[in-house]
Amino acid sequence: MMEALSTEVLPLNVIVAQRRATQGFRSDPIPTHVLKELLELSLLAPSGYNLQPWRLILVQDKDNKRRLREAAMNQAKVEEAPVVIIVCAHPNSWTTDLDKMLALSKAHGAITDDDTAQSLKSSAEKYLSSIDNKLWATKQTMILFTQLMLLAETYGLDTAPMEGFSESKVKELFSIPEDHLVLALLAIGYAGKDDKPFAGRFDLSDLVSSENFGQPLVFEE
Ligand SMILES: Cc1cc2nc3c(=O)[nH]c(=O)nc-3n(C[C@H](O)[C@H](O)[C@H](O)COP(=O)(O)O)c2cc1C
Repeated sequence: MMEALSTEVLPLNVIVAQRRATQGFRSDPIPTHVLKELLELSLLAPSGYNLQPWRLILVQDKDNKRRLREAAMNQAKVEEAPVVIIVCAHPNSWTTDLDKMLALSKAHGAITDDDTAQSLKSSAEKYLSSIDNKLWATKQTMILFTQLMLLAETYGLDTAPMEGFSESKVKELFSIPEDHLVLALLAIGYAGKDDKPFAGRFDLSDLVSSENFGQPLVFEE
């Protein structure tokens, strides 16, 4: 865990209400200590069995950003932003990382005996070998992605999430192993263009039910 966190950050409720997908960036750099803290905090995201099946690539080099832009439907923000993060998921990481996770839990005192470790391992193996690991790793990694995006905004940074890219080209350009998934890009920096007007969201009543699917939720005031 970080020793002393920056306290000059914007509250999360304000961020969630005001965040927009940024249309264009200035070239101003992100202070190194902010970038480091942002990454360390985002990596505190929760995951099933604490297996953390995500892998990130920070792209800051001009030429690499130009190449990434070409693989990302020529979206200018990829080249403009000081930092673009390629967010990958590793569906099979559990096959090697289970022991690493158990050792970490032991080191932190979260697991204190071998029986508990062994039963957790058996339960994880049973579950993870019975499900679609790509879907599993995607679910987990999008939590990390969301945490990263919102945290960046709390530091006064602007973000642009992107799914418009060729996964195969991005993999080839950045030497990403074949069995990994490239889920999204996140451009981070300082907005250089006005946000597009807020496009709204569907009504809560269209999306949230009470107790049973489709049953209206009524708030007693
Ligand atoms: C996972 C994800 C992928 C996205 N991909 C792109 C993209 O490739 N290009 C783009 O211009 N916007 C992209 N967007 C931005 C969305 O269009 C935008 O978030 C949505 O219209 C709502 O607007 P808002 O974020 O400003 O409220 C993406 C957003 C998310 C969450």
